[in-house]
Amino acid sequence: MPPPPTTAFRLECHEVLESTSTTLKQRAEAGVAEGLAILALRQSAGRGRQGRGWESPAGNLYFSLLLRPAVPLRDAPQWSFVAAVALAETLKPLLPHEARLTLKWPNDLLLHGAKAAGILVETGVAASNTLDWLCIGIGVNIASKPSLPDRATSCLAEFLPEPPAPEILATALLRNFAHWHETRLAQGFTPIRDAWLRHGPAMGAPVSVKRDGALLEGAFAGLSPEGGLKLAKGREVQLILAGEII
Ligand code: BTN
Repeated sequence: MPPPPTTAFRLECHEVLESTSTTLKQRAEAGVAEGLAILALRQSAGRGRQGRGWESPAGNLYFSLLLRPAVPLRDAPQWSFVAAVALAETLKPLLPHEARLTLKWPNDLLLHGAKAAGILVETGVAASNTLDWLCIGIGVNIASKPSLPDRATSCLAEFLPEPPAPEILATALLRNFAHWHETRLAQGFTPIRDAWLRHGPAMGAPVSVKRDGALLEGAFAGLSPEGGLKLAKGREVQLILAGEII
């Protein structure tokens, strides 16, 4: 028998916010219980990874979720994989096979090789240097996609004549998230890593990673037990803990 769920999830919807993650982080600091998810139909100051902005017109999903797992701070990045798997398993059944949904390390979701969703995980640290809260922000291009200078983008509407409304997608995502969050808490990271790999690149696929301004090239050789990227070059396998695949 699986253990009973530990988190009560609930969704709060707003017409417009600066950023669902900014609002959620303020609520986290004010002590709100975990499981709160915030959805906005538009954001006026959406944030992406590495200090980038996130264009947020109406029609796409802008969603942030608060968790307070009792785990060491070093395990926090594992939740970006939890989020990526939950998102992939929410979207895949909706899409035709030719959309070719794949996950890109560490946590982008691609359709036909172009970015359709991104995940931003932020943490709050308690005084004793333990994890206080996790804010998992997820943006999905449903109706439209931004034009970016450095990467191809896509949206669900390119593959679906009637893509889901953000509220419907958020409810389904929360259900899948609850499942994978409980799986992580009960069974550790291995099932999450295995699920990520089922949606990830094929073993041996060519990969280029930008790290500290340097370009590393090799073949995808899986994920380490902590979620690091294994990059093979001949017989050598390099472990990459931070960087961006290009
Ligand atoms: C990325 O750069 O790929 C991560 C993008 C994360 C965007 C989402 S949209 C909902 C939440 N609120 C934000 O301001 N950012 C995240």
